Amino acid sequence: MKPLFMWAGGKTKLLEKYQPHLPEKFDTYHEPFFGAGAMFTWAYKKNPQAKFYINDINSDIMKIFEVIKDNPTTFCQEMDKFQSHFLFLDPPTMKTTEVVDGKNKTKWIPHPNGSADKELEKSFKLKGNTYDWKKIYSQKMTRRTFFFKVRQDYQESRSSWPKLKEAATLYFLMKTAFNGVWQLSKKSGAFNTPCGLMRQTDSIYDKNDVWGWHDALQNCVITSVDFQDTLKNIGPNSFTFLDPPYRSASEAKKTYADYGTELGDYFQNKVVDFLNKSRDNGSYTLLSNRDWGDGFFEKRAGDNKIEYFDVTYTVGRKKKEADGHSATKAREILMIGQPK
Ligand SMILES: C[S@@+](CC[C@H](N)C(=O)[O-])C[C@H]1O[C@@H](n2cnc3c(N)ncnc32)[C@H](O)[C@@H]1O
Repeated sequence: MKPLFMWAGGKTKLLEKYQPHLPEKFDTYHEPFFGAGAMFTWAYKKNPQAKFYINDINSDIMKIFEVIKDNPTTFCQEMDKFQSHFLFLDPPTMKTTEVVDGKNKTKWIPHPNGSADKELEKSFKLKGNTYDWKKIYSQKMTRRTFFFKVRQDYQESRSSWPKLKEAATLYFLMKTAFNGVWQLSKKSGAFNTPCGLMRQTDSIYDKNDVWGWHDALQNCVITSVDFQDTLKNIGPNSFTFLDPPYRSASEAKKTYADYGTELGDYFQNKVVDFLNKSRDNGSYTLLSNRDWGDGFFEKRAGDNKIEYFDVTYTVGRKKKEADGHSATKAREILMIGQPK
């Protein structure tokens, strides 16, 4: 089982390095900053019989998990409708081959029908840098115009939709948007990430993954509250994994993985405090975060151990490198709280 979507700060790549620090046994599992739940996939594999408590303040993504838990068939039907519609339309770019120094080289060029028609889009520009995508789509049906029309519809009407429609629409948008980037519209407070490269050929999502998650979620309590309100569930014989938004070295060095949430040291102090309380409640507790080399976590570690990991962040793309991921080298910490 793998995460259902890419999520900034997702821990899939670190799971192997974390191995020596993961517990052999636990009856309950707690993940208060769930995101796409990479550690949960490990915990479920380790002990599918455990009781799981998963939480994230982002109620839009937690709705996706709720719907997959309770109604996977209809969720997949909705996704299949989006998928066939989307795949039928022309993508913004197409693949060609060019011979460079006697070798075939792949090149992506604008698609004659699918690429952005800036003149058309300009003619339906509204106030505040928004566009009437319904009208643009009615004039030119492409993957790009379909994506933005669906996104606009989602932003404007989601509050009156049934939960299933809301969750499937967001999942469609996340799977076709800029990889793993979560941006919110200031106006509607809803998902506002731009479209991605949209080069999918056969599918936009993996149905087997959805069904795998459906099984895994059966023994899960899913909530969407502030992490501090999840402490009451944590007791002995449990494993708690805390993966909050990364600490920023300073305002100027803010990472884009801030999810629009509070990131100051005040917030990070509360997370360390939570680790200590969870450990005192008898839970084996891990806390991951970014290390800026300024001793922030060391000063607060008390008798908790700290391990260090070199990582490369690859979420998002540099504008000029349409095909290549941008990469940032960094160091992360794992604070280990042994149960009391
Ligand atoms: C680094 S991500 C977690 C990534 C996750 N471990 C994964 O593998 O995908 C941090 C998450 O914390 C959530 N979050 C931020 N503030 C929160 C709060 N006060 N309470 C609960 N969740 C919060 C964000 O919505 C985000 O999904």
